[in-house]
Amino acid sequence: MELVRAEGITKTFTTRSGGEVQALSPTSLSIQEGEFLSLIGPSGCGKSTLLRILSGLIEPSGGELIWKDGAPTSGSDVGFVFQEPVLLPWLSIRDNVRFPLDAFGVSKAEGNERAMEMLKLVGLGDFGSALPKELSGGMRQRAAIARALVYRPRIVLMDEPFGALDLLTRDRMNDELLRIKQEVGATIVFVTHSIEEAAYLSDRVAVMCARPGRIRTIHDIKYDVERGEALKDNPQFHHWLSVLRKELK
Ligand SMILES: Nc1ncnc2c1ncn2[C@@H]1O[C@H](COP(=O)(O)OP(=O)(O)OP(=O)(O)O)[C@@H](O)[C@H]1O
Ligand SMILES: [Mg+2]
Repeated sequence: MELVRAEGITKTFTTRSGGEVQALSPTSLSIQEGEFLSLIGPSGCGKSTLLRILSGLIEPSGGELIWKDGAPTSGSDVGFVFQEPVLLPWLSIRDNVRFPLDAFGVSKAEGNERAMEMLKLVGLGDFGSALPKELSGGMRQRAAIARALVYRPRIVLMDEPFGALDLLTRDRMNDELLRIKQEVGATIVFVTHSIEEAAYLSDRVAVMCARPGRIRTIHDIKYDVERGEALKDNPQFHHWLSVLRKELK
C-alpha cells in the first residue's frame, strides 16, 4: 500500500548572490509502506533535497506530497539519520536515544525502557550509560539509528548514513540494517553513493540524474535467494551492479 506520493515536486533555491538553482525539476515518486527504497545519482542531483522535502524540513517550490493518513503533524512521524551521527556529547547513549521521546511528552520511565529496548535491537544493549565519545563511529551510527526508530516513525529517511564508515563496518551495518528493518517493519528511504549498498539493501532503486535533478528510472530489485553475504557472489547481484553502474555513467 502506498504510504506517500510525491507529485510533480520541484525545488528552486535562491543563492546568496541572488541567482537561482533548480535543484529538482518536476519529480514524482510513490513510496510503498514497508519498502526499502534507495536514491542514487551523481553529486548535486538533488537526493538530499528530495529527502529533506519528504521529511518536511523544507518546503517544495511546487508540487505536493500526498500522505496516506494525512501529512505528518509532528516530527514523530519521520525519523532522520544523517551521514555524521548527531549525538549530544554530554548525554549518555540512552539519554540521547530517549531525547526525542522527552520532546514528544513520553514519561521518563517509559522513555528509558523504550530507549534501552531500541539499543538492544541495534546491538548496543551494554552501552546505554556510555558517552558518545566512548563509542566507535559504527556504534555511534547505530545509536543514531536507534534514536530515529525509537518513536516508531511512519518513515525513516537516511542520507548516506554509512558514508563515513570503513568498508568492513559498512558491510556489517548493512546486514544490521536489514535485520532491524525486518524486526520493526519500517519504511526506509536511503540515499547512498554506493551501488553495492543500493543493490544489496533495496527493494527498489531510483536512479537520479543532474541538471536538472530528477528521477530517471526506478528498478525493482528482486533476487531468488535471501539477502546475506552469499548474495554478493550471486550473478543476479552482479547483474544489478552492472545495470546501475551503466546507468550512472
Ligand atoms: N540551501 C541551499 N541553497 C542553495 N542551493 C542549494 C541548497 N541546498 C542544495 N542546493 C543546491 O541544490 C542542488 C542539489 O543539492 P543536493 O544537496 O540535494 O544534492 P545531492 O544529490 O544530495 O548531492 P550529494 O550527493 O553531493 O550529497 C545542488 O546544486 C546544490 O548546490
Ligand atoms: Mg546529499
